[in-house]
Amino acid sequence: METKVVHVDPGRLEDFEKELTQAAEIIKRGGLVAFPTETVYGLGANALDSTAAERIYSAKGRPSDNPLIIQIAKKEDYEKYCIIENVEAFEKLKEKFVPGPVTIIQKKRDIIPHTVTAGMDTVAVRLPSHPVARRLIELSGVPIAAPSANTSGRPSPTKACHVIEDMMGRVDMIIDGGECEVGLESTIVLLKKEGVTLLRPGGVTLEMLEDTLGNITVDKAVKGKLEAGEKPLAPGMKYRHYAPRASVIILKGEDKDVVSFMKSALDDSATGLICYREDGIEESDRVEILGSKRDEGEMAHRLFDALRAFDSKEEIKRVYARLPEDSNLGLAIVNRLIKASGYTVVEVK
Ligand code: TXA
Ligand code: MG
Repeated sequence: METKVVHVDPGRLEDFEKELTQAAEIIKRGGLVAFPTETVYGLGANALDSTAAERIYSAKGRPSDNPLIIQIAKKEDYEKYCIIENVEAFEKLKEKFVPGPVTIIQKKRDIIPHTVTAGMDTVAVRLPSHPVARRLIELSGVPIAAPSANTSGRPSPTKACHVIEDMMGRVDMIIDGGECEVGLESTIVLLKKEGVTLLRPGGVTLEMLEDTLGNITVDKAVKGKLEAGEKPLAPGMKYRHYAPRASVIILKGEDKDVVSFMKSALDDSATGLICYREDGIEESDRVEILGSKRDEGEMAHRLFDALRAFDSKEEIKRVYARLPEDSNLGLAIVNRLIKASGYTVVEVK
């Protein structure tokens, strides 16, 4: 398949109506368009068309038991696709965090095909704040099913070049709208009459949710390893995910011990590092600086790009990284890193 790559400047949408209209035409006729959102790039198809949704699974190599998120452009549209049972929590979430990096799971309405929800009776809906995503959904006139635009299992794409790496020849169009601001996928919450459960942490943090809604249950899969046979509430959380080619190993311990371990580990040319600016290790082919250890926003923004950077370096077999505090946005970074490592954590003394 020929993939057309177009550039759209999110700050000057009016100059790119032609490109966006073309993209919307592709969606309407059942094709695939990758596009930027404020979290990560999405791989979009008409969410009301089950054949189009099937194309997403095959382009990504995604297991068919892993449901898709759908994206909408207007707050009124939630009710078209889901049944709102916990009205109070839903209204508060919508008021405070929508549009933005939060996905709400509720009972699905029949109009959403089972292919999209992988047979589940719930549907995950998100209203993005990114102008390109919003305009594309509006012009398409349908909700857009949009998982992250990576090959299944790889780190989510936060730049158009990441999407090109994974999706060239597999989709009809890629819209290059620059870097994604948050850099990690949306926060996912499951809303039920009985309460609210956090399934995946993201740009809307657990603390922000608790401030707005009170007590929240955190699904075990967010931080812990599931036992064999145990199922996470979000099917996608059970797969080894966000993983680059090299194996990722998490280092725990006192700052000075970890830094000296990392410095000597660099003597081996098969070693890569993901570190903080404060570690005082110089950036190089084998060293990715995530950002300041005091700036979780910067770290989140860079994380997937740093993980992907090692994939182009054949010689690197292992990558050492460390975990930030798991408060605020740190929890989302911890979640992605421990998954990337397949729960491999080494204590440094
Ligand atoms: O930020 C994001 O949410 C990005 C952008 C493109 O919107 N999308 C994204 O989609 O991260 P994806 O498919 O990579 O991750 C969706 C996660 C998966 O873990 C999936 O299992 C879970 O959401 N999910 C989707 N529908 C669900 C449902 N009905 N019940 C439980 N989990 C669901
Ligand atoms: Mg994904």
